[in-house]
Amino acid sequence: MPAELRNVIYFVAAAMFIFGIKGLTHPRTAVRGNMLGAGGMLLAIVVTLIDKEILGWQWIILGLVLGSSIGGYLGVKIQMTAMPQLVALFNGFGGAASALVGGAVMHELISKGESITTQGAVAIAATGLIGAVTFSGSIVAFAKLQELISGKPITHLGLKAANTALTLLGLGLAVMVVMNPQAAWAYWLLVVVMLGLGVLLVLPIGGADMPVVITLLNSYSGLAACATGFVLNNIVLIIAGSLVGASGLILTRIMCVAMNRSLTNVLFGVMAEVGDAPSADEIYAGKVKATTPDEVAMLFDGARRVLIVPGYGMAVAQAQHAVRDLAGLLESRGIDVEFGIHPVAGRMPGHMNVLLAEADVPYDQLKEMDEVNSTMEQVDVVMVIGANDVVNPVARTDPSSPIAGMPIVDVDKARTVVVVKRSLSPGFAGIPNPLFAADNCLMMFGDGKKMVLELVGALKAG
Ligand code: TAP
Repeated sequence: MPAELRNVIYFVAAAMFIFGIKGLTHPRTAVRGNMLGAGGMLLAIVVTLIDKEILGWQWIILGLVLGSSIGGYLGVKIQMTAMPQLVALFNGFGGAASALVGGAVMHELISKGESITTQGAVAIAATGLIGAVTFSGSIVAFAKLQELISGKPITHLGLKAANTALTLLGLGLAVMVVMNPQAAWAYWLLVVVMLGLGVLLVLPIGGADMPVVITLLNSYSGLAACATGFVLNNIVLIIAGSLVGASGLILTRIMCVAMNRSLTNVLFGVMAEVGDAPSADEIYAGKVKATTPDEVAMLFDGARRVLIVPGYGMAVAQAQHAVRDLAGLLESRGIDVEFGIHPVAGRMPGHMNVLLAEADVPYDQLKEMDEVNSTMEQVDVVMVIGANDVVNPVARTDPSSPIAGMPIVDVDKARTVVVVKRSLSPGFAGIPNPLFAADNCLMMFGDGKKMVLELVGALKAG
């Protein structure tokens, strides 16, 4: 294939990636954006394979069918709550592929007796360095989320010293690969050291912080792919890798800001201890008012404006379809219904948006936190379904709280709040929530889906 034609096609693929990412910025265009990005990748892969003339068509088609079948199967079968671990695996495989390609190119050039330029050697060292950390770190993140190993932070005293030693050893080996690109053993030793470092870096981080770690590893996998692009001299891989690297880093930052935590705190610090804050017993004793679906149905009878605030518990209960039915029923009675979405509600970015979109909730009903907060006082009934930390007012009122300063959905300022959850157990941050004891709050205890279905039944019967 002429180099000009190949580069034009690469340019088109790169444009498809960029417009694909642009499409992902809005739910309405997200599916199209996803298809566009995937189409760009298909184009880039097929053109590269044809251009290299190393594989016959039958192998290209076989690879595409095999890869698409595995991807399609996983995409259809995976539970929405298990999406972070799937992404962790994808990142890990991307990192592993980069490290293997870096090593393979090194061996090929050595066996052909060709010299490796300094730029090539730097790129090869970078694929080993970043790719291996990404692989083992992602596998540990996957194992924590899948509960194959404990999700608790594992913090042994020697861990920090071992991390420092492995980092220094890895950097030393990377320099060795650059200085002496004929030393393939140094490359593979580098890979082994970095595999160890990836494990030790992720082990001390708690399971609930894994989504942030996964987006960071996503960024690493992009950087590793970018380095592989330099190894292979492949422009489109450099562009795709840079896009993944940059967008992963931006997403990591957005998540940290939405939790009011620094990246250093997520990576190296366990969540702040609950200082002298009042205990759950002190906050809740004698103040919590339980309610029933029948009572809540009566409450809705007098409401004109309702806000639904979903959280992690809605995902656990798989209540999104029941919630959509409830919203539809209220709307059919002339009630104005909106959804208030906190940026880190649930356990992954966009978790609530994806669940509600899956249940066909119209996008224009999904409102961002700032938008709903500005008119919270005019909301007659807020229904909180399986959310806890993202509606905890201590974030505003108690500077010593682990979630101090985290922006929250100010549901406590609405006229009445109904909270659907199974008990008074805390959420991810592990702290009591004074909202549950507030004068304007009613607790509807039970599984999210079951309670919403009962509420729909009570509304229809009433
Ligand atoms: P959480 O604060 O974790 O609270 C979820 C609540 O859901 C729990 O209190 C639990 O109470 C309830 N629940 C669980 N299963 C339920 C079921 N079947 N039916 C009804 N309720 C159920 O959730 P949130 O408010 O969405 O906050 C998210 C937290 O995760 C934040 O602290 C955030 O910083 C953190 N986080 C988020 C992300 C991203 S990107 N989203 C990443 C890392 C960390 P019961 O057990 O009493 O039912």
